[in-house]
Amino acid sequence: MTNSNPIDVLVIGAGLAGMGLSLRVARAGLRVTILAKGPLTEGSSLYAQGGIAAVIGERDSFEAHIQDTLTAGAGLCHQEAVDYIVRRGPENVHWLVAQGVEFDRLEDANGMRSFHLTREGGHSHRRVIHARDATGRAVENTLESKVRAHPNVTILENHIAVDLISASKLKLDPPERVLGAYVFDMTYNRVSPISARVTVLATGGVSKSYLYTSNPDTSTGDGVAMAWRVGCRIANMEFVQFHPTCLYHPHAKSLLVSEAVRGEGGRLLLPDGEQFMQQHDPRGELAPRDIVARAIDYEMKRHGYDCVYLDISHKSSSFITEHFPNIYERCLEFGIDMTKQPIPVVPAAHYTCGGVLTDLRGRTDLLDLYTIGESGFTGLHGANRLASNSLLECLVLAESASKDIVKRVTDPTAEVIELPQWDESQVTDPDEQVVVSHNWEELRRSMWDYVGIVRTDKRLQRAQRRITLLQEEIRDFYSNFKINSDLIELRNLVMVSELIVKSALSRKESRGLHYTLDYPYPEKTSHPQDTIVVPNNFVGAHLDPLWATEAKR
Ligand code: FAD
Ligand code: SIN
Repeated sequence: MTNSNPIDVLVIGAGLAGMGLSLRVARAGLRVTILAKGPLTEGSSLYAQGGIAAVIGERDSFEAHIQDTLTAGAGLCHQEAVDYIVRRGPENVHWLVAQGVEFDRLEDANGMRSFHLTREGGHSHRRVIHARDATGRAVENTLESKVRAHPNVTILENHIAVDLISASKLKLDPPERVLGAYVFDMTYNRVSPISARVTVLATGGVSKSYLYTSNPDTSTGDGVAMAWRVGCRIANMEFVQFHPTCLYHPHAKSLLVSEAVRGEGGRLLLPDGEQFMQQHDPRGELAPRDIVARAIDYEMKRHGYDCVYLDISHKSSSFITEHFPNIYERCLEFGIDMTKQPIPVVPAAHYTCGGVLTDLRGRTDLLDLYTIGESGFTGLHGANRLASNSLLECLVLAESASKDIVKRVTDPTAEVIELPQWDESQVTDPDEQVVVSHNWEELRRSMWDYVGIVRTDKRLQRAQRRITLLQEEIRDFYSNFKINSDLIELRNLVMVSELIVKSALSRKESRGLHYTLDYPYPEKTSHPQDTIVVPNNFVGAHLDPLWATEAKR
C-alpha cells in the first residue's frame, strides 16, 4: 500500500457493483485496488437468489417494467432514474453473459434455446433472469475469476475501510473532494492511508442494524456512514425493505427463501393451513414485498404465532429440486423437506432503499467520490424496491460510473498529495471488548423492536433515545482505544441507525416500506418528497441536475 503514489481507482467493496466497475475500469487501462472486508466474494451479491430483472421476454416491454417499478415505489421513484436503468438492463445482462455467467435456459420443441425467466412479486411479466436459485453465486464466481486474472487489479481481502480522507480534513483546496481512505488490515491489525485519484463506495446495505436479517455480516452500512462523515447527503433511509420469507429455525442465521418460490406457485399459510394473502391484497402471494411482509407481521401478531408457512409441496419433487436446488438443500440441512412439507418463514430486514445521494453516474456531493450499488441512492426504488431490481441497478451503475471515471482520470500529471499516517499515539488497547458486543446486540434489538415493519412515533423516539446513549459510549470507546473491525462496524451501524430513525421520524405519513400507525395513509400531495438528510458539515454541491440529460442519452 503506497501512500505517495496514488492508484487510479480505489474500489471499496467487491459485490456485483464493485467487481463490475473494477473490471470495466481495469480493462480501460486504469490501475484499480479493490477492498473486501472478508474473502473477495462475501457480501449480499453472493447470496442473491431470485435473479436480475430485465426486459428480455418477447411479450415484455420497457414501459411495463418501468410501470411496475414506479408502482412498487409508491410515488417516490425518480422517473428519469427508472427509465435510464430499466432501458439499460438487457445490454448489461448480455455483458454478464459475455463474461461467462450461465443463466438458466429453456429449449423449445424446435430446439431453440432462450433464457428461462421467473416471476416475482410486483412484476406484470416473467422477467427475472437467473441461474437456478443461486444467481449471485454464478455472477460473483464469474467476475471473481476475471478480476483476479486482470493485471491492472490489486485485491486486498480482509481489509476494511475506516474513513474517507477529504481535502477539507487536510485543510486543502478545493475542500469538497476525496483523496482516498484509511484502511484497516485485519490480518496485521494496522491502519494505513491509501491515496487514489477516485474512490468508489460499493459497500452494500445496512440491514445488519436489525436483529433479524437475510443479509451476510458485511452489510453494516460502512459506505453510508463514511460518506456522511465527510459531508455527503443521504436520502430515504426510512425505507428499509423486509423480505417476507426467511427461514424460521433456531439455528438458521439468515436463510432467505426466494420470492421466486411464490412466483412459481408457493402459497403462504397460517399454522392451521389457512391461506391468508387474498384477504390482504387481490394479488395474493405476488403482491409487492411491503404488503406481503406487513400481512405476515399482522397475522403473526394477531394470533401470537412465531412464524407462518410457505408451501410449494403441491408441485412435483422434480420441479422443486430443479428450480430451487440450493434452497431445497439448505432447508434439508435444518430437517425441512420442502418437497413434502411447508417451510416455516418470518420476515427479516433485507434491503436498504436509501443511501448516499448520487446522480446516474454514481457521482456524490464530493468530487472524486462515487457510490454505486446498494449503498447508493439513485432514486430507482422510491419507497419500495421491486424484486430483482437491485442487481440490475448494481450492473447499470457500475457501467455508467466506470465510463465517467475513465473520462475523469486522464491527467497523469495531477498533483500527488502525501496523506498523513494514521495516528495511534493517543489510544491504548481496549480494556473491555464486551462493551462492543453488548452495544452491538442492544442496537440491533432496539432497531428490530422499535424501527421495524410497523412503526409509531413513540417507538421511534424510544429507539432514538437508546441510539443517542449508544453513540456516546461508542464515541468514547473509539476515541480512547485502538480500533478493530467490530468497533469500526459498530461505529458505522449506530450512525446509519440514527439516520434511519431520523428519516422515519420526519416522514409523517405511511408510504411504501415506511408504515406508521400514527399516520396510516399516504399524504395526498401531488409531489411526495424524498427525505434527504444533510450533515452539519455539508459542503459539497457538485451534483448537477443530470437526471434529465442522462435519461436522453
Ligand atoms: P454487496 O454485494 O453487499 O457487497 C458489499 C461489498 O462491500 C463486500 O465485498 C464487502 O466486503 C464490502 N465492504 C463493505 N464495507 C466495507 C468496508 N468498510 N471496507 C471494505 N469493504 C467493505 N437482489 C436482486 O436484485 N435479486 C435477487 O435475487 C436478490 N436476492 C437476494 C438474496 C439475499 C439473501 C440478499 C441478502 C440480497 C438479495 N438481493 C437481491 C439484494 C442484492 O443481492 C444486493 O442489493 C446487492 O447484491 C448489493 O450489491 P453491492 O455490490 O452493492 O453490495
Ligand atoms: C428473492 O429471491 O426473493 C430476493 C430477490 C430480491 O431481493 O430482489
